Amino acid sequence: MEEFAKLIIDGKEITLPVIVGSEGERAIDIRSLRPQTGYITFDPGYGNTGACKSAITYMDGEKGILRYRGIPIEQLAKSSTFVETAFLLITGKLPTRDELTSTSVYLNDASPVHESMKAFYQNYPPKAHPMGILSAMVNAMRSFYPELIDLEEEMNNTYLRLISKIRTMAAMAYKISIGQRVIYPRPDLCYCSNFLNMMFDSAVVPYRMDNDLVRALNVFWILHADHEQNCSTTAVRVVGSGKVNIYSAISAGISALWGPLHGGANQAVIHMLERIRKDGMSVEQCIARAKDAEDDFRLMGFGHRVYKTYDPRAKIMKEMCDIVLKKVKCKDPLLDIARNLEEAALNDTYFKEKNLYPNVDFYSGIVLRAMGIPTDMFTVMFAIGRLPGWIAQWKEDWIDPEMKICRPRQIYTGNILNEYVPIDQREEESSVS
Ligand code: ACO
Repeated sequence: MEEFAKLIIDGKEITLPVIVGSEGERAIDIRSLRPQTGYITFDPGYGNTGACKSAITYMDGEKGILRYRGIPIEQLAKSSTFVETAFLLITGKLPTRDELTSTSVYLNDASPVHESMKAFYQNYPPKAHPMGILSAMVNAMRSFYPELIDLEEEMNNTYLRLISKIRTMAAMAYKISIGQRVIYPRPDLCYCSNFLNMMFDSAVVPYRMDNDLVRALNVFWILHADHEQNCSTTAVRVVGSGKVNIYSAISAGISALWGPLHGGANQAVIHMLERIRKDGMSVEQCIARAKDAEDDFRLMGFGHRVYKTYDPRAKIMKEMCDIVLKKVKCKDPLLDIARNLEEAALNDTYFKEKNLYPNVDFYSGIVLRAMGIPTDMFTVMFAIGRLPGWIAQWKEDWIDPEMKICRPRQIYTGNILNEYVPIDQREEESSVS
């Protein structure tokens, strides 16, 4: 049965259709609001705005549920691989064995980066942030690998090419930034092992592959693979809505992810923990500062626009932390600070009342550190993981006949009609006054 909402505005009653999602979520379809009434809706930050219909990811922030194509994140983290999860997100179904094999083969075949692209890297200043480099490189890919959107097979190859090359480009950025020889991808290694090898193998010390760390990286990337309409995904959709090429839309997503309130939070958490350690701040002092409205200190890795309970990814990441630290036989003092902060925040009235719980970034930095990933590369790691989600969302938008170019409206609060005064007259007037 169709549902409607009634709105009385300026004494006039209008009827607006209600859209119901497959999990029962409800939205009032306001597309006819302005034509009928002249009013628009006002929702800065879009916290209450559904911008699209999507069949990719379901999350329930109150219950702490996250599912990709209906499959709970806990099951994927336990049993799937990053490549299989990427296939699921982009195509909408789990692959057959043959499909998984051919995907893996293509990912390996496509992994070398065009030699001319190496020149770009070499001309970046030494301390350039790898997120800036990655975003520029992905945008540059359009010039090297044009995409043919009319051919489905070619587009499927474009998606895989992106997933394959982003990993090579990320590892290259790191190697060049530390002045080491670039390690080329190896056809005998799987997606995650190849990345670790490209990052850490060197002429001096060959990299010793560890299956537990490879598994940990798979889980890390699975947890980051999609998160419905977050800031960077929205950037991909908004930029893509202008019908720009996919590389440019993804490049916009990488830039959006870079911010400390979004994907940059994993790096910000480590900086915060390091600062707490260096300054000898107590847990109580941190909590007090985070609660002080006059102080811009926030507990990084805490809070989420949608989750009002423990982020389900954070739970898995916390468990991974213990596994990885045990494996690399490392005791990280930052982990103790993180645990104490978490315990104090979870028992604090301010954090309880505002529903502020650890998000995925709270423990992910510690996992990455233990794996040997430098802090500057943390958000790049997030970007590699999020790529299948961005692609799936871009694709869904591209083929959706209901989608239009994104063009929000505004409530204008500037000057009302004003006269232009020529500069001579302005000077004359100001000298008189
Ligand atoms: N520490 C202290 N107080 C906080 C925190 C925090 N981490 N997060 C939110 N609050 C407080 C705010 O000060 C605000 O208080 P007020 O109501 O008195 O003004 C209230 O909680 C609501 O916060 P908003 O910023 O309005 O919530 P919003 O949904 O806009 O922001 C966000 C969510 C950006 C994630 C925020 O919680 C935050 O800045 N967290 C720290 C950064 C972080 O961890 N980001 C990663 C998010 S996960 C991801 O992108 C992968």
